Amino acid sequence: MIYPPHNLRCEYLKNPIEIDTPFPRFSWILRHEERSQIQKAYQIIVSSEKEFAESGNGDLWDSGKVESENNVNIVYEGKEVKSSMIYYWKVKWWDKNGNESEYSEIAKFEIAILLESDWKAKWITREAFIDKKKREKFQYKSGFGVFLGMIREYYGIYIRKEFSLFKKIKYARLYICGLGCYELSINGKKIGDRILDPAWTDYKKIALYSTYDVSDFLKEKNAIGVILGNSRYLDKFGYIYPKLIVQTLIRYEDDTTELICSDKTWKFSQGPILENGIYLGEKYDARLEIPGWNNPNFNDSSWENAILCEGPKLASQMMPPIRVTQLLRPQNLYSNSPGKYIYDFGQNFTGFIRLKVRGPRGTEVIIRHSEIVDHNGNLNTATNRIAKATDVYILKGEGEEIFEPHFTYHGFRYIEITGFPGVPTLNNIEALFIHTDVPQIGNFYCSNTLINQIHENIIWGQLSNFMSIPTDCPQRDERHGWMGDAQLTVEEAIFNFDTVGFYTKYLNDIRLCQKENGAISDVVPPYWPFYPADPAWGTAYITIAWYLYWYYDNIRILEEHYDYMKKYVEFLNRNTEENILYKFGKYGDWCPPGSIVSRKTPIEHVCTWYYYHDTLILSKIAHILGKDQDYQLLAKRSEEIKEAYNQRFLKDAYVIPKLSLVDETTSQTSNILPLYLNMVPEKKKGKVLSKLLSCIIENHDYHVDTGIVGTRYLWDVLTENGHADVAYRIITQESYPGYGYMIKEGASTLWERWEKLEGSGMNSHNHIMLGSVDSWFYKSLTGISTLEPGWKKIRIKPYIPPDIEYSSASLNTIKGLIHCSWEKNYKNLKIIVEIPVGSGSEMWIPIPIKESEVKEGNTMIWKDENPFESVDGLEYKEVKDNYIIYEIGSGYYQFTINPYE
Ligand code: BGC
Repeated sequence: MIYPPHNLRCEYLKNPIEIDTPFPRFSWILRHEERSQIQKAYQIIVSSEKEFAESGNGDLWDSGKVESENNVNIVYEGKEVKSSMIYYWKVKWWDKNGNESEYSEIAKFEIAILLESDWKAKWITREAFIDKKKREKFQYKSGFGVFLGMIREYYGIYIRKEFSLFKKIKYARLYICGLGCYELSINGKKIGDRILDPAWTDYKKIALYSTYDVSDFLKEKNAIGVILGNSRYLDKFGYIYPKLIVQTLIRYEDDTTELICSDKTWKFSQGPILENGIYLGEKYDARLEIPGWNNPNFNDSSWENAILCEGPKLASQMMPPIRVTQLLRPQNLYSNSPGKYIYDFGQNFTGFIRLKVRGPRGTEVIIRHSEIVDHNGNLNTATNRIAKATDVYILKGEGEEIFEPHFTYHGFRYIEITGFPGVPTLNNIEALFIHTDVPQIGNFYCSNTLINQIHENIIWGQLSNFMSIPTDCPQRDERHGWMGDAQLTVEEAIFNFDTVGFYTKYLNDIRLCQKENGAISDVVPPYWPFYPADPAWGTAYITIAWYLYWYYDNIRILEEHYDYMKKYVEFLNRNTEENILYKFGKYGDWCPPGSIVSRKTPIEHVCTWYYYHDTLILSKIAHILGKDQDYQLLAKRSEEIKEAYNQRFLKDAYVIPKLSLVDETTSQTSNILPLYLNMVPEKKKGKVLSKLLSCIIENHDYHVDTGIVGTRYLWDVLTENGHADVAYRIITQESYPGYGYMIKEGASTLWERWEKLEGSGMNSHNHIMLGSVDSWFYKSLTGISTLEPGWKKIRIKPYIPPDIEYSSASLNTIKGLIHCSWEKNYKNLKIIVEIPVGSGSEMWIPIPIKESEVKEGNTMIWKDENPFESVDGLEYKEVKDNYIIYEIGSGYYQFTINPYE
């Protein structure tokens, strides 16, 4: 039976209200009871009214029956869409036998503000903020960070506007951007659940606005209230005074519209939020609260009128916001000295606490945050470095008071509370986990508890570092978009989360930071403008774009960024000497065991390898986009780089050039990198591989000796070259250096270093950059990878370690659910696989015992070392490396290998 399409998405979002492209793309997922089904054709209709869509009248677009197997990223080709309009769409499909489905349920998408000229609202600020001397009255000094020194931040800024409406509302939308960040309320009620909104950008180039459906919040008399906080909008980064823009569109039942726009009539004041900074923390004096300030009929005569000001270009924030996603209860509460209480949440994470307290007016409760404690159990805040990470709440003394900070976040596991009136209990504090709310799409679990724990640590660490940009860490005085960290973990992140919106936004940040000469910064947005990036950091531009294409079949991303990516690669090219890139390397194979900068893998080796990597990928992109001349040139150039690279670094294996006669001076990473990109000449491949293995086994007793770069590629190199068992053994080491060691030492996320270090310096306990290993759990341990972009052609090839009993992984991909699980059952092995409609897969069935039989369901498909009965959906290909390979179509399969051991 054929089912109607489901899970309809527009620009990867479900019923979005924030679309700001005139050509949105549609995707849907297909279901069918038969195996090996594919879509042969589809028909989409888009209507201006829901009733039209219901009756099948696509007044804006009727695609007609389109012969196509594609069900993702179908570009809208209908009549022009307009700002603030809602559109309705549905889709049906035909299967390979020509059967036609019912139409899907109706989905919606809504255009936000498409044209600059559709912005009628003005940027506003307070007059005093413009003037250096006058603004100091509204600022406090906040010092943090070796790189930052002393800066000034603003007290929380309170802004309000009243207005009346006299007709019946059909719907209302509010578009807002408040810099640095804002909290919005209407008629006393907080609107939405966004935190630290908008997403961080380089505000000189662009700021993002968010769209809210406020239809249900408006009455006849209304007040909009906005509080502005500092976030990243700091003068130190070149952003001088806070500002706000708000445009509310009201569409009445009679289809007339009205706009309520920020202008000079809006009013400014101050309130209870004093200090508020992401590094420093928040200070809230509840005695200064202003009852009724965000309700109508409030006397604001003492408030100051806004003035108009300049503001950055605006774009819609088409990615999930930062939200609270989990509530954590403290696991332990203790005190080592009177009046000082420590709460332990048992988990390192990102967010803040919620305090419940009763006490006399003016009592000051101080909350400090840390990742670790010292041997006495006292807070050790060294890993925060200069980030003060302290929240202060001053009681108003009116019964139970609840405080949670508005405009800060911390990376912590422990808090210390002082000044609490009385003795706090476990119920006085809970913690809120916040991060960019990317939906989790991957699930992985196996019988090895250590591997499950590594996976868990990575999930916590990855989410902690989705803070509207991919950050390095959440606790110390950095929290920046270090691109090396981002590019090394992008594949892991894509396996675990729906990140397409998140990284699409980040690629724009990268593009916007590009200099005329093509250089980009290590840190993006370039709050720390470190130009030009180390090539292992700069590659983020090309690597992330490539993965968005590879896993989401997102060609548009390649089109949009091609010219700029090319400019970047050309910049590298201009700076090479005979195809070796000596320049720009600063970090290389960063943070290997025992050091920060690798002493074993030359920086120019890593730089040149990335130069090759980026040129090669760009050549593939040029090919995909049909840019033939570029393709020819880049392909040829990558060959030349490869040759120069081999000439310089390859002897018997890849070694440090200066000491090339001493073959031992090599590193794991030096040999991992060329193997990963197939750069090793065929006749030397064996030697290079055995060098790598001996570096791992003999020199390091099955431990990593890699920094973040080598670690990223190690697992794939070993597995693709037939040594998955070695990868597995390294991953499950419990001794130093390794993931198991971290966990044994109490890590609940991943550390920045392989060592347990607890002083200030490069010692974060919540860095994600070594988290790249997680994709191996999906790709190899459970065996799910894709051979073609967008999961059209999958490969299921599980590696089954002798001491693991079962493993299971599911991925909600753009094509639909992909699942593989395997389980040893006495002497048998059972594998369950699910492939979505429209995809096919190579199915690699492990058969370590030649004589074993294989069943699919109840049918014997393999017997006496040969294919036996045939089954629908399954086509035998060959036997290779102890696997039987089949081609399978969509559907659900259950294989039994008997005996397996
Ligand atoms: C960051 C890293 C980053 C590195 C670059 C550190 O301070 O925390 O994760 O990639 O600097 O050198």
